[in-house]
Amino acid sequence: MAQDHFLSFNKSKYLKWAGALCAICIGLYLADSPPIKPGGGTWLGYGLGTLGFGLILWLMAFGLRKRAYRSNLGSVRGWLSAHVYLGLALAVVATLHTGFELGVNVHSAAYVLTLAVIASGIWGVILYVRQPALMGNLLNGQTLQNLGSGLRDIDDQCRKAAQGLSPDIQRLVKNSSTGRIFASRWQRFSGKNPDCATQRTVDALAEKNNGASPAQRELYNLQFRRLQQLLRIREFVRSRTWTEVWLLLHVPLSFGLLASLVAHVVSVFFYW
Ligand code: HEM
Repeated sequence: MAQDHFLSFNKSKYLKWAGALCAICIGLYLADSPPIKPGGGTWLGYGLGTLGFGLILWLMAFGLRKRAYRSNLGSVRGWLSAHVYLGLALAVVATLHTGFELGVNVHSAAYVLTLAVIASGIWGVILYVRQPALMGNLLNGQTLQNLGSGLRDIDDQCRKAAQGLSPDIQRLVKNSSTGRIFASRWQRFSGKNPDCATQRTVDALAEKNNGASPAQRELYNLQFRRLQQLLRIREFVRSRTWTEVWLLLHVPLSFGLLASLVAHVVSVFFYW
């Protein structure tokens, strides 16, 4: 079970819950024949509004659960699965709550923001599905450490393999191990470093490979592996950077939604 993907967590339990919730809400909406126009002002409308508000508060609580490392309130993976599916169900709940009536007012603003947060959530899911290693990072923060220690292991082997080889080659190995993963912050967005010291070392060793000793060929193989590991690290950092950018959208939008929700509820109850 620990290896469940968050989208299919626990036999897609939360997908089923969300589906059932939508079916019940749609059924009630179709069966309802209120004395006034369907929407937020009917009994069902109040019920759906309260449900939607509760869902939003609970969706926002995911930020707290994510950081409560010692919590035993279920796994982060399970929470995320529920967050995604119940977050999508919120689109149905909120739409039925509006009774399909939209205008340029504080009520519709809350609805549009709800849809915007949900849409940004879908983008986040796409990022996580494209780079599954990010999930490990979210769950235990270990991915980058593991990748980094893999790199250090290769460097240890390179130092041993280079012993007894020419100073020229020793310098190449040293340059490679002290080279930077990224030369600037901006490269984190592209995941590329065109001035990579390990790439230069691999190229230089490839040139010297003709007639080289077995130790030198071994060194070339190790440097080649180092380059592959570096590419994995850069790709991981690239995805993580985009997830951070994404969170900069998803989280402030959520807080904006909360503020507009308060304005919506206050205006309904006090100024109606
Ligand atoms: C109104 C609805 C929603 C609200 C208020 C909301 C709010 C939040 C909050 C507060 C977090 C925690 C972020 C943090 O503190 O680091 C979060 C995380 C997340 N949300 Fe939503 N969300 C909503 C809907 C959705 C939907 C519909 C999806 C997907 C379809 C989604 C996908 C995600 C994902 C993947 C994360 C985890 C990101 C991470 O921690 O790296 N959200 N959301």
